[in-house]
Amino acid sequence: MTILVTGGAGFIGSNFVHHCLGQSDEAVVNLDALTYAGNLGNLARWAGDPRHVFVKGDIGDRALVDQLLQTHQPRAVINFAAESHVDRSIHGPADFIQTNVVGTFHLLEAVRAYWMGLAADASGLTPPSQSHFRFLHVSTDEVYGSLSPTDPPFTETKAFEPNSPYSASKAASDHLVRAWHHTYGLPVLTTNCSNNYGPYHFPEKLIPLVIHNALAGKPLPIYGDGQQIRDWLYVQDHCSAIACVLQSGVPGETYNIGGWNEKPNLDVVNTICQLLDQMRPRSDGLSYATQITYVTDRPGHDRRYAIDARKIERELGWRPAESFETGIRKTIAWYLDNADWVANVTSGAYRQWVDQHYG
Ligand code: NAD
Ligand code: TYD
Repeated sequence: MTILVTGGAGFIGSNFVHHCLGQSDEAVVNLDALTYAGNLGNLARWAGDPRHVFVKGDIGDRALVDQLLQTHQPRAVINFAAESHVDRSIHGPADFIQTNVVGTFHLLEAVRAYWMGLAADASGLTPPSQSHFRFLHVSTDEVYGSLSPTDPPFTETKAFEPNSPYSASKAASDHLVRAWHHTYGLPVLTTNCSNNYGPYHFPEKLIPLVIHNALAGKPLPIYGDGQQIRDWLYVQDHCSAIACVLQSGVPGETYNIGGWNEKPNLDVVNTICQLLDQMRPRSDGLSYATQITYVTDRPGHDRRYAIDARKIERELGWRPAESFETGIRKTIAWYLDNADWVANVTSGAYRQWVDQHYG
């Protein structure tokens, strides 16, 4: 059997490809536009493996997606592809609307046509069947808006109140996915996850940026007062949750994914500095915390996100394996061991290589 993953050269998508290829015999067709955030180096482990078919392309390219679906007959499509960075969405929202909203629309239409053409019965002679097919849409807790310190964590019934161009574009895509189930019966699943961290995280988001800047002797920028709260989940726990929802989730349902790890940004940055002080001490003996620099706050900065993950635990039996303490230590160790990866994804040479190889 085969699954089609979109955005599988990005941070979470590539971790999910590793999860699938490492834990099952299934093939993965990986459709990714290789924007600045997509890196084939994330997938180097599978180079030459016939179970990983990489295709450079856009989720909004209807003809390409139609052709991939007909050729590979996947039993599921998992949509990770997105523009994902809030700061970039503030400076240039157009790409977010194009990929996250328009792209998801075209993808849904291609998947609907494919699903309607599948055999209705589940005889098992010509898998996949309509009844077994799933479209899983990967989304974020940011669609729910911002919490005050005393609000309860987001449940799946919380109204959407997105505040940034990024979260508004993701909320729009979640609504499209919901409507394609309600109107056309497409068997969709939606997951809304909290902030991820771990290997292959592009060093523009808080945790990898702080690790990268600390080691490079650069400032560690704290937006505003640093007391904004995020709810952190180790990326491989997110991947196991998606696999669990794909396996056992009920079509039309949404599932929140989180690890009950709310932390103020300043605490996260101080924790990283303390661990780096132990694992790679600065040559001058000073703490990396001396590099912390307060900078102007992000416009419209959401104050607090927190996920109530009781539904996925109660209904599907999923729980995270890592605490923040174990996950952040693993993450820092990975960045210390993979300095070449960081250099590659941040260098112009890497981009030239991608252009040469994939046009
Ligand atoms: P990312 O930015 O690291 O990767 C996105 C990938 O999508 C890249 O490989 C990029 O090349 C690809 N892509 C972008 N536009 C495309 C297009 N039009 N067609 C095909 N591919 C395209 O993002 P991520 O952090 O891995 O996030 C993956 C998904 O998970 C996103 O949908 C995001 O909204 C969601 N999410 C992320 C987090 C988080 O903390 N990073 C948390 C919850 C949900
Ligand atoms: P980020 O990793 O961009 O994720 P998101 O905005 O999707 O939650 O940011 C996490 C938090 O860290 C957010 O409150 C903004 C803050 N932040 C900083 O204080 N400094 C930085 O340099 C960055 C990138 C983020």
